[in-house]
Amino acid sequence: MKISVIGCGYLGAVHAASMAELGHEVIGIDVDPARIESLQQGIAPFHEPGFDALLKKNASRLTFTTDMSVAAHANVHFVAVGTPQAADGSADMTYVNSAIEGLVPYLSESDLVVGKSTVPVGTAERLSAHVTPTGAVLMWNPEFLREGFAVEDTLSPDRLVYGVPEGADGDTATAVLDEVYAAILAKDTPRLVMNFATAELVKVAANSFLATKISFINAMAEIADVTGANVTQLADAIGYDTRIGRRFLNAGIGFGGGCLPKDIRGFVARAEELGVGDALSFLKDVDDINMRRRTRVVDVLTEELGSLDGKTIAVWGISFKPDSDDIRDSPALDIAESLACSGATVVSADPEGWKPAQARVERAGLSASLTTTDNHRAAVTGADALVVATEWKVFQEEDATAIGALMAQKLVVDGRNCLDANSWKEAGFRYRGMGRT
Ligand code: UDX
Repeated sequence: MKISVIGCGYLGAVHAASMAELGHEVIGIDVDPARIESLQQGIAPFHEPGFDALLKKNASRLTFTTDMSVAAHANVHFVAVGTPQAADGSADMTYVNSAIEGLVPYLSESDLVVGKSTVPVGTAERLSAHVTPTGAVLMWNPEFLREGFAVEDTLSPDRLVYGVPEGADGDTATAVLDEVYAAILAKDTPRLVMNFATAELVKVAANSFLATKISFINAMAEIADVTGANVTQLADAIGYDTRIGRRFLNAGIGFGGGCLPKDIRGFVARAEELGVGDALSFLKDVDDINMRRRTRVVDVLTEELGSLDGKTIAVWGISFKPDSDDIRDSPALDIAESLACSGATVVSADPEGWKPAQARVERAGLSASLTTTDNHRAAVTGADALVVATEWKVFQEEDATAIGALMAQKLVVDGRNCLDANSWKEAGFRYRGMGRT
């Protein structure tokens, strides 16, 4: 089939390459010429395991361009542009609106437009009014991929969700998308067909649930800190109950990234618009608990070191999660910036995130007190404390004795509860976890 993918960020670029992997002819379209140039050369513009290989393997079926008119050659059009957080917390729909507006002149009768972006409930209904006069049909097919596993999640999703219009158009849309995803459906992947509103809500409900799970365990970490309990053992014990489950119960410095934080805020804003803000008031607590985790690290360091003024602090981790170079709303980078603003000299190390972080640090005017590197051993040299803020494997596997020998003081704050506490203590470190000692 001939497919266009509008928006070539983390979601769209991986989706485009994955559709080519399924055997389709794919055109990726984006307004950013540098991104398109890189993709066209088969070079991933961001770090995502397996994505480079996928691009190269499917180069013959993949074209990237900034020219929207090329979409006229395709029959199925995925809209995968970003919906960042607006100043008031709601989802900024500028990119989705302009993608649809730009695409409409090139649509033909019987084309299918498939929205993948995370949008406020009611968006598909509204956009449908722009698409249907062309004879094309709109459907909504939310994406649940995790960064770091984007390729795997796109090609082998837990489930496919189709939001379709009522009646014959819905049946047509379902049949066409089934053809696009034939290879995935052949693996017995559950496929759920529902109306627009339900499909839109599935995505934000899933992310809200995940965020709530993380903030629940972080609330337990706050209690553990004042009672001497160990939140990791608590999570293990409640996680054996299959109704609860152990996944997403890792306490630490909380969630970040381009999805969870802005999706819960956007969902709250939309519920308020709809007059049912009370239904989601708990998500404000989820957000507050999450943001408190970041200040907790600064508090623990202040407790241990007294004033942070003039101290040198190493932070391991810049990306919001391991195996990613994404620094959007990253707790690790936020903490490093707070420490720098408290008078400390901070060196942040990350295998991938150090590159995008440099520009942000300069923009924030913090380059005199916060530097970034990919060398995590250089970062700890002469440091008064080490904060582990992103659980990259390379950090977890480090030799505590060798690290201790490089530091001015042996203090480690394990912001992700990812280190083997005993081996760090045996190496002479004062170890502070999040809800565990
Ligand atoms: C998330 C959803 O998981 C995915 O389904 C959706 O499509 C997009 O948003 P992603 O943003 O890639 O994916 O990251 P995820 O793995 O969910 O982690 C989000 C944040 O939560 C990270 O900062 C991570 O460190 C944190 N986290 C995760 C915890 O603090 N504790 C946990 O137990 C799990």
